[in-house]
Amino acid sequence: MADNNNEKYELELSNLEAFAKQYPDPNSRMEALKQAAMPFYELLTYYECAIDEVVTKFNILNKDYSLNNEQNPIESIQSRVKSMESLVDKINRKNIPFTIESVVNNINDIAGVRVVCKFPEDVYKVRDGLLLQDDIHLLEEKDYIRHPKPNGYRSLHLIVETPIFLSTGKKLMKVEIQIRTIAENFWAALEHQLNYKKDLPEIASIKEELNKLAEESANLDNRMEILKHKIMKLNGDE
Ligand code: GTP
Ligand code: MG
Repeated sequence: MADNNNEKYELELSNLEAFAKQYPDPNSRMEALKQAAMPFYELLTYYECAIDEVVTKFNILNKDYSLNNEQNPIESIQSRVKSMESLVDKINRKNIPFTIESVVNNINDIAGVRVVCKFPEDVYKVRDGLLLQDDIHLLEEKDYIRHPKPNGYRSLHLIVETPIFLSTGKKLMKVEIQIRTIAENFWAALEHQLNYKKDLPEIASIKEELNKLAEESANLDNRMEILKHKIMKLNGDE
């Protein structure tokens, strides 16, 4: 992935002070800075392309299910490329080298796609539909639905590799995919807000309440799914 012309700049960027000393002339410093940053911006564009590929695959799967007279399993799809700022944050937190190669090898969530499904069974239907495709390669799977996190978090996480096709050829890019129900997504969005309020005194009781709500919400998901099948049977759809 690394472009050799730019390689010599990459390490110096991790220490801006040293970088400034190395390029005392503001013009050449600006030029060197641009050259050092360019491969990273290029990389983020490749991840954007990977997101486009994966989102298209999910959209096609969703359409295909409706052709077969089945309900659309996907309610919505969100995606994002990690911002340069949070990428740099993560590089620092993980204490990994500031190079394209180390970023590509060590950070799996630069491209993120979140698929929100109506019912729990849809999560696995959509997962299977994606993983059946022969250009998608599963690198890692974490099933927080069958094995919820201690805080109650539920979601199916996949890290996959997808090809993108550029003028220069094919590149394999990693994408983090989170597949969850509407209810799980609703819960995660609220719980996520706790991350920014770590030192509140009421935090313990809020966490306890969230944990109970995660259980109740999972229960509701399952009961709705059972009811859906009863209704489908009545309608002669099953
Ligand atoms: P990072 O947290 O991204 O470094 O990755 P990880 O290796 O811990 O992966 P994991 O699959 O556990 O989490 C990846 C992503 O899932 C996170 O970045 C969040 O978007 C989401 N996630 C994981 N755990 C929680 C949780 O407890 N609450 C919420 N709201 N989101 C979570
Ligand atoms: Mg993450």
